This record gives sequence, structure tokens and C-alpha cells, in this order.
Amino acid sequence: MIVSLNGEYLDRTRATVSVSDRGFLFGDGVYEVTRARDGRLFEAARHLRRLARGLEALDIALPPGLDSATLLEISERLLHENGLEQGDATVYLQITRGAAEPRTHHFPPAGTPPTVFLSANRLIVPDDLHARGVTAITTPDLRWERCDLKTVQLLANVLAKQQAVAAGAFEAIFVRDGLAIEGASANLLAVIDGAIRTHPADHRILPGITREVVIELARELGLGVSEAPLPLRELSGARELFLTATTVDVMPVVQVDGRAVGDGRPGPVARDLHAGLRARLVRDTTRAPAL
Ligand code: PDD
Repeated sequence: MIVSLNGEYLDRTRATVSVSDRGFLFGDGVYEVTRARDGRLFEAARHLRRLARGLEALDIALPPGLDSATLLEISERLLHENGLEQGDATVYLQITRGAAEPRTHHFPPAGTPPTVFLSANRLIVPDDLHARGVTAITTPDLRWERCDLKTVQLLANVLAKQQAVAAGAFEAIFVRDGLAIEGASANLLAVIDGAIRTHPADHRILPGITREVVIELARELGLGVSEAPLPLRELSGARELFLTATTVDVMPVVQVDGRAVGDGRPGPVARDLHAGLRARLVRDTTRAPAL
């Protein structure tokens, strides 16, 4: 597999990062996972905007010459070089504050080059799970107060996901102050009284790109959408519950903590939104035929 590290294309086995890298030592960096189909990125502009916002919040400057257009070029080249020009894939991008000695909590000297890593990976779309739905557990949200930043510091998410897997579940739903916030690696949406409810895009959740697109699709379908807190006790009255993320699209949750959601089967709203999202993905990644 060919990856890109600091502007160089090289085999994954030869791509190495310094033990002084602040991503390794402190989780000091941001990342993106962007969907691709047939060699083209989906919603690239939104991912790049979220990345830019994260870099600004962490005060990490891109190295000279590396702008959004270059990141797009690298992403598409990696899809090409790795034989991912057909079908579904993801592009992983990570930018850290770079390598600096000695280890200090405060920032290294200005001019320390950030570490920029990209890779492209095949995505097996979990259609069997879309058809069956998945199960989830709830767990306290132990994350910090800037969950809106997509940082590589994912320890609370990692522990929550492992707790879910150990319990035989697919996802862990973070609960804070009695509210169902989001999943360990996906946003959470519910259908309550015929309308969609999802936690507002504040500092408590990652503003998912899939969530954004799905909200647009829901409005196009004439569904009501309320970006309002979702008390855990209201989940028992939800007709449907689903997760959204780049890697799972719209994933129905049919059971939470052992209790069925709605009738315990994937519902029509999740199904329609999933179909709408797939149609949007195909539309936006289809190359215009050559004249
Ligand atoms: N995770 N919330 C959290 C905590 C996430 O980690 C993710 C995505 C999302 C959904 O965001 P988007 O729709 O932009 O993918 C919400 C990615 C896929 C990951 O960490 O692999």
C-alpha cells in the first residue's frame, strides 16, 4: 500500500514517524476520514472546512505549499495508486504538531513542521448490518469539553467502543447529564413523534459530515428535524434510532442496553435516509462522461 507522509509517496512499511512526534506523545493533532467512491471524494469541501477549523483551534499551521487543493490531489492520487478507483473507499488524513525535542507540554518553537500523513483504504460497506440493524450500550461520556474538534486524542472513545465490543454490541452511546449525546464513532439520531431529533452541533459532539448531509436529506423528504438535546429516558419512546458516520452511512440501532427500539427492526426513516445518502454519494462521485 502506498501512503503519503510529509509530501512523499512511499510504501506503508517504509513510512515511519519520529518517536518525538507530538501526535505519538500527546495526541496533539487532528484527523479526517473522508468517503470516496470510484476514486473521487465525497463532500470533500466540508471535510476540509472541518479540518481547517480544527487546525485553527489547535493553532497548527499547514506547511508552506500544502493547501486544501494539494490535500485533495494527494487523496485522489492515493486512491489511484492503491487500485481504489472503483467501489467504496475512505481516505484517512492526520496532521500533528510535528516532532520536537525535548518533550515539553507547551508548543515547540515556531516553524516546527507538522507531520502530515494520508492513506487510502478499501471500505467494505456493511450492508448486512444495514439490513439487520445493530445493538448499542450506553456509557458515561468521559470526554473533554471540545468534542467538536476531530483530534486524534480518542482514548475515551476507544475505551467506550471496547466496552461495547466486549458486551457484544456495535456501538457505545455516550450519556452526559442524562442526555444521549452521540456514539463513540458516530452521531446519533432518533425518530420521536414523527420527527428527527439529534443533539445540537455544539462542543459536546463531533459535527459529523454525514449527520449534516442526512439532516439536509431529511428536510428534502419533508421530515421535521429538531437539533435539540435528547434525554436518555426519551429513547424508550423513540420509533427509530440510527447512527451516522462516514464509515457506516445510516446505521439503524435496534436495541439499546438490551431493550428493543421501536419494534426491534430497522425502520422506514433510516431506510429512506440511507437510500438518499447512497444516491447522493453516487451522484456526487460520478464522473461526467467524456464528450
Ligand atoms: N468517526 N462522532 C464521532 C465521535 C466520530 O468519531 C465520527 C466519525 C462521527 C461522524 O462523523 P462523520 O460523519 O464526519 O464521519 C461522529 C470517524 C469515521 C472515525 O473516527 O473513524
